[in-house]
Formats: sequence, structure tokens, C-alpha cells
Amino acid sequence: MTSCPIHSPLLDPDLRMRPPGEPLPPPLCAHGGPLGDVFARWLRQRDDGAHAPEKAALTRALQALSDDDIRAHARRQAAIARPGGWSHWSWAVPASTAASLLGIELNDVDAQRRLYACLRAMAAGLGADANADAVLAGGAAVTTLLTALDDAERRSPDAPLQWTLLRHAPPARWTDRATFTANRLALIWQSHEAGAALLGHALLDWRSTGRVPTREDLLRIAREGGAVRVTRRFDVRQDPATPVSVPLSSTDHPFGDGAHRCPGQGLALTSLHAALAWLAGQPGPPLLDPAPPLSLPNMDIPQFLDEELRP
Ligand code: HEM
Repeated sequence: MTSCPIHSPLLDPDLRMRPPGEPLPPPLCAHGGPLGDVFARWLRQRDDGAHAPEKAALTRALQALSDDDIRAHARRQAAIARPGGWSHWSWAVPASTAASLLGIELNDVDAQRRLYACLRAMAAGLGADANADAVLAGGAAVTTLLTALDDAERRSPDAPLQWTLLRHAPPARWTDRATFTANRLALIWQSHEAGAALLGHALLDWRSTGRVPTREDLLRIAREGGAVRVTRRFDVRQDPATPVSVPLSSTDHPFGDGAHRCPGQGLALTSLHAALAWLAGQPGPPLLDPAPPLSLPNMDIPQFLDEELRP
């Protein structure tokens, strides 16, 4: 279960997020636009000298969030999502909670579906084989979400995560304002697939054990492969740098380790646990019909048959 820190690939300075001189993967390099612009600024993709101070500020902002605020927003998004069916619920709750904490108004299932559609468009544009249309559509989704976040900053600067960001990681602490806004958007993006994977697996765990998963269960489920199973690095000792696959499941760090360790672990665990606790308070256990998962290279995202489609 444990790995010797000295030999952990995630602590190896020669294993980097991108190959040297290639800040963008080929489709984004070829087709550019807003998706490439945010990608190149995301902490997740950078190992430059500004990564550590910018990450430290972002981490402080996330840690300053109150658990009560996280739980209140997660419960509300869980209740709004429930009429949309189980697949909608497990996909929508993580990203909608992050967006709502940032002050984006999501008052009905349709608003959550629009957010989901933007995030799926981003995912398609970030795919290894994305074509020009997919990169363009992903870029349009990025523009929509960046505008929504700017509007939220103007209208609701006191929304919990907007407030802690403006206090602990304001634009002046970043290379420029575009880097700040790209990484503010990354908080929604990063919560999307990993959050849906973990919440979907938590529903499956509940179904098989008959017990509502606790916060500790969520960590166990992530360790057992129910979230991000593997991540990728480039070994810069080789020329050209070679891609390296680093396992996360069956280790004691399912949220990563080292410089790129997930700063959203507390937010993710608290919000998903609050959503499950809200569900536990509803009449009757959740009656789930699992469908084949969405299989991505680094995780499986459970899907469910909509209730009305059940035989
Ligand atoms: C609200 C939810 C979440 C937020 C805001 C969030 C945010 C982030 C951010 C900003 C990074 C990049 C950090 C960096 O590169 O310096 C990151 C990395 C990471 N996150 Fe999260 N995350 C969330 C949920 C999750 C969940 C549910 C998982 C599943 C276990 C997860 C697993 C990871 C992992 C493994 C990494 C490191 C990737 C690597 O080193 O290659 N995150 N997260």
C-alpha cells in the first residue's frame, strides 16, 4: 500500500507535466484558441518557477473555505440535481458545487446540464486525438465559463470560494490576470471528471454494502481505484522526453503527491460526503441500475440507467 517517498515517481524532479518546449499537446498546438490559452496557464500543466507560489496561494484559498459553506452548497446542488436521474446526479454534483461556491447561479437541472455540456466540450477538445472542430467547441465552452466566472466575481464577490480566492490568491499573486482566471476555471474543470468518478463509485459502494459511505470510505474508494487510477509524466532525462504512467490506485496517495498534489482534496471529500448525506435523508435507499461506465485512460466514470428507462 505505501511507497518509499525517495522512490516515488511523483517526487522525482525529472518527471514533468509536459515535454520540454511543448507546453501544448499537438491538437491544441495545431488549432489554438481559448482552450490552449487556459491549458498553458493551468498549474496542472506547469513546472515553471511560478508554479510553487501560485499553487501555495490557491491552496490557502481552498483551505480557507468553511466546511459549513461547502456542505450547504453541496446539499443544495444535490437536491437540484436529483430530478435529473442518477447519471445526471453523480456527474453534476461535484462540478456544480465548485461552480456554485464560486458564485455561478445554478438554480435548476437545466442550468446544471448547461455547465455539464460546457465541461464535456472541454473534455472533447482536450482529447489526445481532438480535431479542429472539437478544439474550437472546447474553446467556445471555455469562453462561456470564463465570462460566467467574471460575472460571478462582479455580482457575487462574497460567494465563498470567490471570496477566499480574492483574499488569498487575488490576480496580483499570479503571473497575470489571465493566469488567475484560467486557474479559477480549473477549479471547476478539475472537480468534474474526478469528482464524478468518485461520487459514482460511492453510489455503487452504497448499493453493494447497504451503508452510506463515510468520508473515510470515500478515501478508501479512491485508493481502491474508484477515482483517478493513474497519472502521467514525461521523463526529461530522455531526449525526446518519454511519457511515463504513474499509478495512484492501490497507493496511499490517490489525490497525488509532491508539487502537483491535489489542492482540492478537502473540498472534494467534504462536498461529496455532504451530497451523500443529503441523499441518505431522502425517503428510501437509492435504487440504482448501473450502466456501462465511461472509460477514460485514467479513470472509469460510473453511469446509471435513468429511473424512467428501467424495465
Ligand atoms: C472540488 C474538487 C477538486 C478540485 C478543486 C481539484 C483541484 C485540483 C487542482 C487545481 C490540481 C492541480 C494541482 C497542480 O498541478 O499543482 C489537482 C490535481 C489532482 N487532483 Fe484534484 N481537484 C478536485 C477533485 C479531485 C478528486 C475527486 C480527485 C480524485 C481522487 C482528484 C485527484 C487529483 C489528482 C490525482 C491530482 C494530481 C494529478 C497529478 O499529479 O498528475 N481531484 N486537483
